[in-house]
Amino acid sequence: MTIKKVHYNTSSTSFYFAAGFARLKDFIDIKHAVILVDENVFNLHTKKFKGWNVIVLKPGEQYKQQATVDSIITQLIQFNVDRKTFLIGVGGGVVTDITGYVASVFMRGIRFGFVPTTLLSMVDASIGGKNGIDVGVYKNIVGTINQPSFILHDHLFLKTLPADEWRNGFAEIIKHACIKDAAMFKTLEANNLKKYQSDKKLLNELIHRNALLKSKVVIADEFESGDRRLLNFGHTFGHAIENTYKLSHGQAVAVGMVMACMISEAYCSFKDTNRVIGLIKKYGLPVHQSYNAKKVIDVMKADKKKVKDIINYVLLQKIGKAVVMPIDVKEVENIISQMETKNLS
Ligand code: GLY
Repeated sequence: MTIKKVHYNTSSTSFYFAAGFARLKDFIDIKHAVILVDENVFNLHTKKFKGWNVIVLKPGEQYKQQATVDSIITQLIQFNVDRKTFLIGVGGGVVTDITGYVASVFMRGIRFGFVPTTLLSMVDASIGGKNGIDVGVYKNIVGTINQPSFILHDHLFLKTLPADEWRNGFAEIIKHACIKDAAMFKTLEANNLKKYQSDKKLLNELIHRNALLKSKVVIADEFESGDRRLLNFGHTFGHAIENTYKLSHGQAVAVGMVMACMISEAYCSFKDTNRVIGLIKKYGLPVHQSYNAKKVIDVMKADKKKVKDIINYVLLQKIGKAVVMPIDVKEVENIISQMETKNLS
């Protein structure tokens, strides 16, 4: 196990890398804690939760809604919790998002921490403090920025991770490589999913590198007025198609990254779209999704990152170097409409 404490503006998060779930008891009082976990993780790892107060949630992004928050809060009240209670989210991005959000608003804020159980949540979703819920198809439109006290990794959870979930994690890893880490991009090109799944050391290094890459970006710009926006690479278009076309987050981001590369060609003379497409395909992710431009644009217009009539699109100058490009909504509409019929596969 490696412990690393990272410091944000007003708080800090302790990372317990390659630890075990049982380590939680070393620093959390089990009697003053409640675990939120979804049915899938709970059913696969029931024994781990023995002795803990547990609230089991229905799995899936469709439950990342206010109704789930209300139900959790009702159950917390039934557990007789108080402001000293620790809320622990054990799961993927949906569970960690809901946990952070409930903990931030319940009794005006209680402490919380995460045990991410998916690759995607280990390298991305559990890090950064943005916790939110969706309203209809509008993803993360309600939420807070509030850092977890700890993030503990137990790689045993990855043993039961479905293949699609591995691929989802690699979408965000590829994103990190595209925006900030050309050397990692090359390493990813040289390896493949099977290799990472079978080589513990290689996987540990990758998870560690990505978690710290994301933390570093967040430390420098916790409230997203500068460089943190680069983490949205692939997400503007990705979020607009994710719920509408029932894609997984990784699939949506993968298609969104290809769209962003195409736009980068026009705005930043980006030359490596084919390398990005090749890497996305190598890790089993899609590079194209048919869509209805009008529907997609409607969702994009409600994106919370839009400011007046400007969408801050994250584009690539080269692999490992991203920029934020303010583009007029009308211009984005034109691009999305033109690409609607273009086959990117
Ligand atoms: N919780 C994800 C983020 O802050 O980016």
